Amino acid sequence: MNASLITLIIYIVVLVPLMLLGYYFARRKMFDPHHKFIMTLVVILNWVLISVVMLTSYTDVAADLPENLNQNFALIATVHGIIGLIAQIMATYLVLLMWTENTPLERIVIFRIKNIKTPMRITLSLWLITVLLGFGVYGVWYGGGDAETTDDPLPAITEEAETQNTIPALDATEEAEDAADDATDDAEDAADDATDDAEDAADDATDAAEVAADDATDAADDD
Ligand code: HEM
Repeated sequence: MNASLITLIIYIVVLVPLMLLGYYFARRKMFDPHHKFIMTLVVILNWVLISVVMLTSYTDVAADLPENLNQNFALIATVHGIIGLIAQIMATYLVLLMWTENTPLERIVIFRIKNIKTPMRITLSLWLITVLLGFGVYGVWYGGGDAETTDDPLPAITEEAETQNTIPALDATEEAEDAADDATDDAEDAADDATDDAEDAADDATDAAEVAADDATDAADDD
Protein backbone atom coordinates (compact mmCIF):
# COMPACT_ATOMS: atom_id res chain seq x y z
CA MET A 1 0.00 0.00 0.00
CA ASN A 2 1.58 3.32 -1.00
CA ALA A 3 1.39 6.80 0.55
CA SER A 4 -1.27 8.04 -1.89
CA LEU A 5 -3.64 5.20 -1.10
CA ILE A 6 -3.04 5.61 2.65
CA THR A 7 -3.77 9.36 2.29
CA LEU A 8 -6.97 8.61 0.40
CA ILE A 9 -8.11 6.18 3.12
CA ILE A 10 -7.22 8.66 5.91
CA TYR A 11 -9.51 11.24 4.27
CA ILE A 12 -12.38 8.80 3.88
CA VAL A 13 -12.10 7.19 7.31
CA VAL A 14 -10.78 10.00 9.53
CA LEU A 15 -10.70 13.50 8.11
CA VAL A 16 -14.03 13.84 6.33
CA PRO A 17 -15.91 12.38 9.34
CA LEU A 18 -13.99 14.79 11.62
CA MET A 19 -14.85 17.76 9.37
CA LEU A 20 -18.54 16.83 9.56
CA LEU A 21 -18.34 16.22 13.31
CA GLY A 22 -16.75 19.65 13.77
CA TYR A 23 -19.57 21.19 11.75
CA TYR A 24 -22.13 19.31 13.88
CA PHE A 25 -20.57 20.70 17.10
CA ALA A 26 -20.71 24.23 15.67
CA ARG A 27 -24.38 23.79 14.80
CA ARG A 28 -25.03 22.63 18.38
CA LYS A 29 -23.10 25.70 19.62
CA MET A 30 -20.56 23.40 21.32
CA PHE A 31 -17.66 25.64 20.33
CA ASP A 32 -15.20 25.29 23.21
CA PRO A 33 -13.62 22.76 23.45
CA HIS A 34 -15.46 20.42 21.01
CA HIS A 35 -15.61 22.39 17.77
CA LYS A 36 -12.33 24.19 18.44
CA PHE A 37 -10.32 20.99 19.08
CA ILE A 38 -11.81 18.99 16.22
CA MET A 39 -11.21 21.74 13.64
CA THR A 40 -7.69 22.35 14.96
CA LEU A 41 -6.94 18.64 14.57
CA VAL A 42 -8.31 18.64 11.01
CA VAL A 43 -6.24 21.72 10.07
CA ILE A 44 -3.03 20.20 11.47
CA LEU A 45 -3.57 16.78 9.86
CA ASN A 46 -4.39 18.48 6.55
CA TRP A 47 -1.15 20.50 6.68
CA VAL A 48 0.84 17.35 7.50
CA LEU A 49 -0.60 15.38 4.57
CA ILE A 50 -0.31 18.35 2.20
CA SER A 51 3.35 18.94 3.02
CA VAL A 52 4.45 15.31 3.30
CA VAL A 53 2.49 13.73 0.42
CA MET A 54 0.82 16.29 -1.81
CA LEU A 55 3.34 19.10 -2.21
CA THR A 56 6.08 16.54 -2.84
CA SER A 57 4.02 15.03 -5.66
CA TYR A 58 2.95 18.42 -6.95
CA THR A 59 6.53 19.65 -7.47
CA ASP A 60 6.73 17.35 -10.52
CA VAL A 61 3.57 18.92 -11.97
CA ALA A 62 4.74 22.45 -11.09
CA ALA A 63 8.01 21.93 -12.98
CA ASP A 64 6.15 21.87 -16.33
CA LEU A 65 3.54 24.55 -15.67
CA PRO A 66 1.74 26.05 -17.51
CA GLU A 67 2.36 23.92 -20.65
CA ASN A 68 1.06 20.75 -19.02
CA LEU A 69 -2.32 22.26 -18.06
CA ASN A 70 -3.84 20.82 -21.24
CA GLN A 71 -3.28 17.38 -19.71
CA ASN A 72 -5.84 16.06 -17.24
CA PHE A 73 -3.42 14.90 -14.54
CA ALA A 74 -1.86 18.37 -14.26
CA LEU A 75 -5.10 20.34 -14.63
CA ILE A 76 -7.04 18.47 -11.95
CA ALA A 77 -4.11 18.51 -9.50
CA THR A 78 -3.67 22.26 -10.01
CA VAL A 79 -7.37 23.14 -9.58
CA HIS A 80 -7.45 20.84 -6.55
CA GLY A 81 -4.31 22.46 -5.14
CA ILE A 82 -5.54 26.05 -5.58
CA ILE A 83 -8.93 25.40 -3.96
CA GLY A 84 -7.28 23.30 -1.24
CA LEU A 85 -4.75 26.00 -0.45
CA ILE A 86 -7.48 28.66 -0.17
CA ALA A 87 -9.49 26.33 2.11
CA GLN A 88 -6.47 25.60 4.30
CA ILE A 89 -5.49 29.26 4.65
CA MET A 90 -9.06 30.17 5.60
CA ALA A 91 -9.24 27.25 8.05
CA THR A 92 -5.92 28.15 9.65
CA TYR A 93 -7.06 31.76 10.05
CA LEU A 94 -10.32 30.66 11.68
CA VAL A 95 -8.52 28.29 14.04
CA LEU A 96 -6.11 31.09 15.03
CA LEU A 97 -9.09 33.36 15.66
CA MET A 98 -10.60 30.76 18.00
CA TRP A 99 -7.39 30.09 19.93
CA THR A 100 -6.49 33.74 20.45
CA GLU A 101 -9.98 35.02 21.27
CA ASN A 102 -10.04 36.76 24.68
CA THR A 103 -6.36 36.04 25.26
CA PRO A 104 -3.32 38.37 25.38
CA LEU A 105 -2.38 36.90 21.98
CA GLU A 106 -5.43 38.46 20.27
CA ARG A 107 -3.23 41.00 18.54
CA ILE A 108 -1.19 38.41 16.61
CA VAL A 109 -4.21 38.04 14.33
CA ILE A 110 -4.13 41.53 12.89
CA PHE A 111 -7.44 41.49 11.06
CA ARG A 112 -10.18 39.89 13.20
CA ILE A 113 -13.55 39.34 11.54
CA LYS A 114 -16.62 39.56 13.78
CA ASN A 115 -18.97 37.07 12.17
CA ILE A 116 -17.20 33.77 11.59
CA LYS A 117 -20.27 31.72 10.64
CA THR A 118 -20.20 32.38 6.88
CA PRO A 119 -16.41 31.99 6.49
CA MET A 120 -16.65 28.70 8.42
CA ARG A 121 -19.35 27.41 6.08
CA ILE A 122 -17.36 28.48 3.02
CA THR A 123 -14.26 26.78 4.43
CA LEU A 124 -16.09 23.51 5.09
CA SER A 125 -17.56 23.58 1.56
CA LEU A 126 -14.13 24.26 0.03
CA TRP A 127 -12.63 21.41 2.10
CA LEU A 128 -15.25 18.97 0.88
CA ILE A 129 -14.92 20.14 -2.74
CA THR A 130 -11.14 19.74 -2.40
CA VAL A 131 -11.52 16.22 -1.03
CA LEU A 132 -13.76 15.28 -3.98
CA LEU A 133 -11.24 16.78 -6.39
CA GLY A 134 -8.53 14.85 -4.47
CA PHE A 135 -10.41 11.62 -5.22
CA GLY A 136 -10.43 12.78 -8.85
CA VAL A 137 -6.67 13.36 -8.74
CA TYR A 138 -6.16 9.87 -7.34
CA GLY A 139 -8.42 8.39 -10.01
CA VAL A 140 -6.71 10.20 -12.90
CA TRP A 141 -3.19 9.50 -11.64
CA TYR A 142 -3.56 5.88 -10.60
CA GLY A 143 -6.94 4.76 -11.88
CA GLY A 144 -5.59 3.22 -15.09
CA GLY A 145 -3.17 0.87 -13.37
CA ASP A 146 -2.61 -1.05 -10.20
CA ALA A 147 -1.67 1.63 -7.68
CA GLU A 148 -0.60 -0.98 -5.16
CA THR A 149 2.14 -2.35 -7.34
CA THR A 150 4.11 0.89 -7.39
CA ASP A 151 5.49 3.24 -4.78
CA ASP A 152 6.27 5.82 -7.43
CA PRO A 153 4.70 9.01 -6.07
CA LEU A 154 3.79 10.26 -9.49
CA PRO A 155 3.29 7.59 -12.14
CA ALA A 156 1.37 10.12 -14.21
CA ILE A 157 4.43 12.09 -15.18
CA THR A 158 7.36 9.77 -15.50
CA GLU A 159 9.77 10.45 -18.36
CA GLU A 160 7.86 8.08 -20.57
CA ALA A 161 4.74 10.18 -20.06
CA GLU A 162 6.61 13.39 -20.70
CA THR A 163 7.88 12.20 -24.05
CA GLN A 164 4.69 10.49 -25.13
CA ASN A 165 2.12 12.78 -23.49
CA THR A 166 0.46 9.78 -21.95
CA ILE A 167 -0.04 8.32 -18.50
CA PRO A 168 1.87 5.04 -18.07
CA ALA A 169 -0.87 3.68 -15.88
CA LEU A 170 -3.25 4.04 -18.84
CA ASP A 171 -0.64 2.52 -21.18
CA ALA A 172 -0.40 -0.49 -18.91
CA THR A 173 -4.17 -0.93 -19.08
CA GLU A 174 -4.18 -0.66 -22.85
CA GLU A 175 -1.37 -3.21 -23.08
CA ALA A 176 -3.28 -5.55 -20.79
CA GLU A 177 -6.44 -5.07 -22.89
CA ASP A 178 -4.49 -5.79 -26.11
CA ALA A 179 -2.98 -8.91 -24.55
CA ALA A 180 -6.44 -10.04 -23.43
CA ASP A 181 -7.83 -9.43 -26.95
CA ASP A 182 -4.95 -11.42 -28.48
CA ALA A 183 -5.53 -14.27 -26.04
CA THR A 184 -9.26 -14.27 -26.86
CA ASP A 185 -8.51 -14.34 -30.62
CA ASP A 186 -6.05 -17.22 -30.15
CA ALA A 187 -8.56 -19.16 -28.08
CA GLU A 188 -11.28 -18.57 -30.70
CA ASP A 189 -8.97 -19.74 -33.51
CA ALA A 190 -8.03 -22.85 -31.53
CA ALA A 191 -11.70 -23.59 -30.85
CA ASP A 192 -12.55 -23.14 -34.56
CA ASP A 193 -9.71 -25.50 -35.54
CA ALA A 194 -10.85 -28.08 -33.03
CA THR A 195 -14.45 -27.83 -34.30
CA ASP A 196 -13.28 -28.25 -37.92
CA ASP A 197 -11.17 -31.29 -36.96
CA ALA A 198 -14.07 -32.86 -35.09
CA GLU A 199 -16.43 -32.22 -38.03
CA ASP A 200 -13.92 -33.77 -40.47
CA ALA A 201 -13.49 -36.79 -38.19
CA ALA A 202 -17.26 -37.16 -37.90
CA ASP A 203 -17.63 -36.93 -41.73
CA ASP A 204 -14.90 -39.56 -42.18
CA ALA A 205 -16.60 -41.83 -39.67
CA THR A 206 -19.96 -41.37 -41.42
CA ASP A 207 -18.38 -42.11 -44.82
CA ALA A 208 -16.66 -45.22 -43.41
CA ALA A 209 -19.91 -46.40 -41.87
CA GLU A 210 -21.77 -45.86 -45.16
CA VAL A 211 -19.10 -47.79 -47.09
CA ALA A 212 -19.26 -50.59 -44.54
CA ALA A 213 -23.04 -50.66 -44.75
CA ASP A 214 -22.93 -50.74 -48.57
CA ASP A 215 -20.39 -53.57 -48.46
CA ALA A 216 -22.60 -55.49 -46.07
CA THR A 217 -25.63 -54.95 -48.31
CA ASP A 218 -23.67 -56.04 -51.39
CA ALA A 219 -22.46 -59.12 -49.52
CA ALA A 220 -26.02 -59.95 -48.50
CA ASP A 221 -27.24 -59.48 -52.12
CA ASP A 222 -24.43 -61.78 -53.39
CA ASP A 223 -25.67 -64.46 -51.00
C1 HEM B 1 -7.81 21.24 2.27
C2 HEM B 1 -6.77 20.89 1.62
C3 HEM B 1 -6.61 19.60 0.86
C4 HEM B 1 -7.33 18.46 0.95
C5 HEM B 1 -8.52 18.16 1.83
C6 HEM B 1 -6.74 17.52 0.00
C7 HEM B 1 -7.20 16.22 -0.24
C8 HEM B 1 -6.59 15.31 -1.09
C9 HEM B 1 -7.00 13.95 -1.29
C10 HEM B 1 -8.17 13.27 -0.59
C11 HEM B 1 -6.15 13.39 -2.19
C12 HEM B 1 -6.20 11.95 -2.74
C13 HEM B 1 -5.16 11.07 -2.03
C14 HEM B 1 -3.83 11.02 -2.74
O1 HEM B 1 -3.76 10.83 -3.97
O2 HEM B 1 -2.80 11.14 -2.05
C15 HEM B 1 -5.20 14.40 -2.59
C16 HEM B 1 -4.17 14.24 -3.48
C17 HEM B 1 -3.32 15.24 -3.92
N1 HEM B 1 -3.35 16.56 -3.54
FE1 HEM B 1 -4.51 17.33 -2.09
N2 HEM B 1 -5.71 18.15 -0.64
C18 HEM B 1 -5.59 19.41 -0.15
C19 HEM B 1 -4.70 20.39 -0.53
C20 HEM B 1 -3.75 20.25 -1.52
C21 HEM B 1 -2.81 21.27 -1.87
C22 HEM B 1 -2.69 22.65 -1.22
C23 HEM B 1 -2.05 20.78 -2.86
C24 HEM B 1 -0.92 21.53 -3.50
C25 HEM B 1 -0.65 21.68 -4.65
C26 HEM B 1 -2.52 19.43 -3.16
C27 HEM B 1 -2.03 18.57 -4.13
C28 HEM B 1 -2.34 17.23 -4.23
C29 HEM B 1 -1.65 16.29 -5.08
C30 HEM B 1 -0.49 16.60 -6.01
C31 HEM B 1 -2.25 15.04 -4.87
C32 HEM B 1 -1.82 13.70 -5.48
C33 HEM B 1 -0.81 13.14 -4.48
C34 HEM B 1 -0.34 11.74 -4.80
O3 HEM B 1 -1.19 10.85 -4.86
O4 HEM B 1 0.86 11.54 -4.95
N3 HEM B 1 -3.56 19.15 -2.31
N4 HEM B 1 -5.49 15.57 -1.91
